[in-house]
Amino acid sequence: MSSSPAATEAIGGLDSTVVVTDQVDLEALAQVYRRVHAADLHLVDHSVPTVTERLRWTAEAPGFEAALGYVDGHLAGTVMGCPLPPETLWWRDLTSTHDPDLAIEWEGRTFAVCEAFVLPEFRRHRLGLRMTTELLARRREERVALAVAETNTRVWHALQRIRFDHVGDLVPFPGWRSHRMLVRALPLTSAP
Ligand SMILES: CC(C)(COP(=O)(O)OP(=O)(O)OC[C@H]1O[C@@H](n2cnc3c(N)ncnc32)[C@H](O)[C@@H]1OP(=O)(O)O)[C@@H](O)C(=O)NCCC(=O)NCCS
Repeated sequence: MSSSPAATEAIGGLDSTVVVTDQVDLEALAQVYRRVHAADLHLVDHSVPTVTERLRWTAEAPGFEAALGYVDGHLAGTVMGCPLPPETLWWRDLTSTHDPDLAIEWEGRTFAVCEAFVLPEFRRHRLGLRMTTELLARRREERVALAVAETNTRVWHALQRIRFDHVGDLVPFPGWRSHRMLVRALPLTSAP
């Protein structure tokens, strides 16, 4: 087990901390996820596979790591993922990439962010950004990749502002909405 020391910041007068760890409580995360996506839980994107299955697959992947956000001592969100193995299906069916080497994986090439969510009442207080930067600061991979639903324009615009590139689109699981695949070089502190 590994976990980072937590730094505290105030969110709406409440203490918030970010802990980076490879030990997570899947049921607690699933409960937060269901509150985050309460309005959309009927969509295939949020039900097949089930949230608990998806979280478990990520948490059991070799090299898994999560940043967990706590507000007033309660779990408020996460950014979590795992390194992509050479045989990954992550890039399968990606459309319109201009880079023939994009989907080739080797040990240490890519860290995939598989989940990112924060409870609605604690959003826009930089918790998402803090979790992302604290998680990725410890990674040694060359790049980070994540998929964002095409309809989630605010989030992919925000990521493009911090120099993530839109490299193509894909449907992560059958019946899901199309997602934009975004990639950025690591470390986050590097020049463009
Ligand atoms: C995406 C998410 C995790 C961001 O968490 P957060 O703690 O609110 O993020 P931050 O406060 O660090 O915001 C970072 C930037 O993202 C952008 N952003 C995030 N959510 C936004 C929203 N709802 N409206 C407008 N801009 C938004 C903004 O540019 C923001 O910076 P700003 O506040 O200086 O304008 C959170 O909005 C969420 O859980 N959304 C629902 C689930 C989801 O869409 N997950 C992403 C799938 S990969």
